[in-house]
Amino acid sequence: MLVKINPETKVFGIIGFPLSHSLSPVMHNRAFEELGINAVYLYFPCREVGGVVAGMKSLSIKGLSVTIPHKEKICRYVDELDPIAKSIGAINTLVNKGEKVIGYNTDAYGAVMALKSRIEDLRAKKVLIIGAGGASRAIGFALKEEGAEISITNRTEQRGIALAKELKAQFYPFSDIRGDFDIIIQTTPLGMYPEIEKMPSVPDSIFEKKPVVMDIIYNPMETAFLKLAKKKGCETISGVDMFVYQGAKQFELWTGKQAPVSIMRETVISFLKGKNR
Ligand SMILES: NC(=O)c1ccc[n+]([C@@H]2O[C@H](COP(=O)([O-])OP(=O)(O)OC[C@H]3O[C@@H](n4cnc5c(N)ncnc54)[C@H](OP(=O)(O)O)[C@@H]3O)[C@@H](O)[C@H]2O)c1
Repeated sequence: MLVKINPETKVFGIIGFPLSHSLSPVMHNRAFEELGINAVYLYFPCREVGGVVAGMKSLSIKGLSVTIPHKEKICRYVDELDPIAKSIGAINTLVNKGEKVIGYNTDAYGAVMALKSRIEDLRAKKVLIIGAGGASRAIGFALKEEGAEISITNRTEQRGIALAKELKAQFYPFSDIRGDFDIIIQTTPLGMYPEIEKMPSVPDSIFEKKPVVMDIIYNPMETAFLKLAKKKGCETISGVDMFVYQGAKQFELWTGKQAPVSIMRETVISFLKGKNR
């Protein structure tokens, strides 16, 4: 795709390090093209975030996605934090409103939308979240708002216990997970390309009640964990869904227009299937 630029072209992009595996540029540029928006979305590999907000203002960069390892550190540099981002303590989206740069977290929205496409009402649903990192935290806060009953399991027990305490949730070590779950969400990087055979070492008994199982990894689209869950008779949700919905919310914050969600999903899936490589 060749982008036509002129002095009116609005600039968006992604900061993080490394960035080579990000699918946000291909997804957002396709969405701009679909709606005929004069904008371009670029890669900004960035090791240090101290100057990002000032740089956005002086260069009129309208919006940025924020990825690993900056989601938490950048919070201290923005002019304002959206209340959801504030309670999570992490940002994945920056919006330049001229005077102010505002930080948002759309990961939480993305995960909830992906789940709600299968389970409309999340109230009182028993949810096991595997992992206690940034994504787990965002998803945990969002599901708590939805009224779900959350349990956490994590390799490093101390970290898992700390998050469970904040969420008023139950903590279980990997080897001793008890309870029947309606939903399981895998949030560790285990199984991500290229180490696609990996998965967290949790007992098979978690699949007994045939929960809906979501893995937030999107490359591969179906992880080894999801394959196992499917084999055990569970309905599964790929990380592609969360990725597309978090991106759709970013698009709407930046442009004020409804995101072309189906086109964004098709673009990501065709890229992952290797058509655009
Ligand atoms: N689909 C989407 O839109 C989307 C959005 C955000 C993130 N993600 C994906 O989510 C994943 C996690 O991101 P994050 O920001 O939450 O990362 P993070 O903050 O670094 O947290 C990683 C979590 O995984 C656990 N973990 C890491 N390596 C492990 C191993 N070898 N064995 C067991 N547990 C391990 C960590 O446990 P310890 O506490 O023991 O270290 C921690 O709980 C990444 O793959 C990312 O690409 C997807």
